[in-house]
Amino acid sequence: MRNPIIVALDLPAADAALDLARRVAPHVGAFKVGKELFVAEGPDFVRRLRGTGASVFLDLKFHDIPNTVAKAVASAVRLDVQMLTVHCSGGSAMLRAAEESAQSTAATLGRPAPLVLGVTVLTSMDAAALAELGGETDITRQVERLARLAAGAGIRGLVCSPLEITPLRAFLPGSMQLVTPGIRTGAEKSDDQKRTLGPSEAMTAGASWLVVGRPIYAAKDPVEAAKAIAAMAMGSR
Ligand code: C5P
Repeated sequence: MRNPIIVALDLPAADAALDLARRVAPHVGAFKVGKELFVAEGPDFVRRLRGTGASVFLDLKFHDIPNTVAKAVASAVRLDVQMLTVHCSGGSAMLRAAEESAQSTAATLGRPAPLVLGVTVLTSMDAAALAELGGETDITRQVERLARLAAGAGIRGLVCSPLEITPLRAFLPGSMQLVTPGIRTGAEKSDDQKRTLGPSEAMTAGASWLVVGRPIYAAKDPVEAAKAIAAMAMGSR
């Protein structure tokens, strides 16, 4: 059974992040590199992380004209990442360009294409923030609209909040991979995540992958925390 835990390496420096990754790697499925670490440490950090044998999720949320996004995706494929993110609000041409670039660049290099994940509505947005943009003001409807747009453009995975898993599963193709942050076991101190699910609940609801940051990297014992969270997630299947 595939280990569905992706550890968010939300740490500012390469050495600490690599040290954590090496320690928890036997108990998790992949590592997420976000903007903070990537801007500080660059592609070289991704190469070092890949050099440990770890799978990498490059979470840079590309959003630009289709040609630029296609080229950024091609660069990510050359870095040999296994997952990456794009904003669904970039539109269907941009989404199609991202997926096609992932497939064609990987084929040229003779490796499997990374999973291009669409980000729908950022969970930091509420109805008022959406209204400011001038379009749909109902968050659920906008998430659904962007999810359909992504599926129609050939995107094979989406990032979604724990509470979006069930409504999205109701209409998306079963093959769509859902990657879900906002995972808490109840053992952590409370933090800024408001709408959370436990690892087992999220998997039962239909998540494919769980992104877990603080419950692992800020735990007293990250290795034990990773083991426990992975067991909860995999015990549910
Ligand atoms: O520490 P925590 O488990 O909350 O980390 C969750 C990770 O998932 C962070 O990297 C955060 O930026 C990311 N994320 C999120 N909510 C979203 C999208 C991404 O928490 N809607």
